[in-house]
Amino acid sequence: MKCSPVKYCFHSIVCLAAFTIATFGHDIITTKLTYTRDISRIFARRCVACHDAGSSIPLTNYQEVRPWAVSIKEQVLARSMPPWGAVKGFGSLMPDDALSQEEMMIIASWVIGGAPNGDPALLPKAIPSKPRPPVTATQDVLTVTNNAVVQSTLTVTGIRPLPSTIVVSARIVAFLPDGRIEPLVWLYQFDPKWNRVFQFRKPIALPAGTRVESSASLRFALESEPKVLSRVQ
Ligand code: HEC
Repeated sequence: MKCSPVKYCFHSIVCLAAFTIATFGHDIITTKLTYTRDISRIFARRCVACHDAGSSIPLTNYQEVRPWAVSIKEQVLARSMPPWGAVKGFGSLMPDDALSQEEMMIIASWVIGGAPNGDPALLPKAIPSKPRPPVTATQDVLTVTNNAVVQSTLTVTGIRPLPSTIVVSARIVAFLPDGRIEPLVWLYQFDPKWNRVFQFRKPIALPAGTRVESSASLRFALESEPKVLSRVQ
């Protein structure tokens, strides 16, 4: 069959249209990083404890993660996720779950490169996720609005902010009766929906007469582990 010029022209338009859809209808992949090999392992360590299957934004597989890719890049580069909400180096707090610089770059490059899934065989066998921090293992021993004086000696293991709105910046400090100053936590861009306890590396003894003070208007609770609490008179 001979192809008339008109027919040929029609075919090439169809071809061109098909080519355009194939190319631009999907993301152009420009990265060798993949979800299955690289991202799933970082997320298992850093995200899935909160973003598990039952959460409002589950991030446990590629289908769940892909629609959030751009938001994930923004959250991670802004250090909004994983949430921390405090300034590092102020007070003596347990290490946070912040991403390393390398992990941040892997996530950002993967998203910019088109967020490909990759070979399903490279997924980790079982995603071992860290359990959520044990928020219930501590209890409030003193609730403070802006500042308070400790009436009888307390051994505190952490601090739980109780704000109603995002805290831009608030330093919480304990002034001990012997003149020592104990920095507890410096909240920074802390969002109340995180509902988290900042745990101290070591329990801190606050003798009677200690004044605990926040530099900005704030409600917070001093926490103690129940077993420590029972020893406090
Ligand atoms: C300590 C718990 C926690 C961890 C760990 C955590 N997130 Fe989140 N994340 C949250 C909460 C809470 C929200 C708000 C959910 C909501 O509004 O329903 C959120 C929201 C998000 C959102 C949506 C933001 C938006 O656009 O509204 C993204 C994307 C996100 N997280 C990504 C991540 C990634 C990626 C990680 C790991 C690198 C991570 N998160 C780790 C608790 C966490």
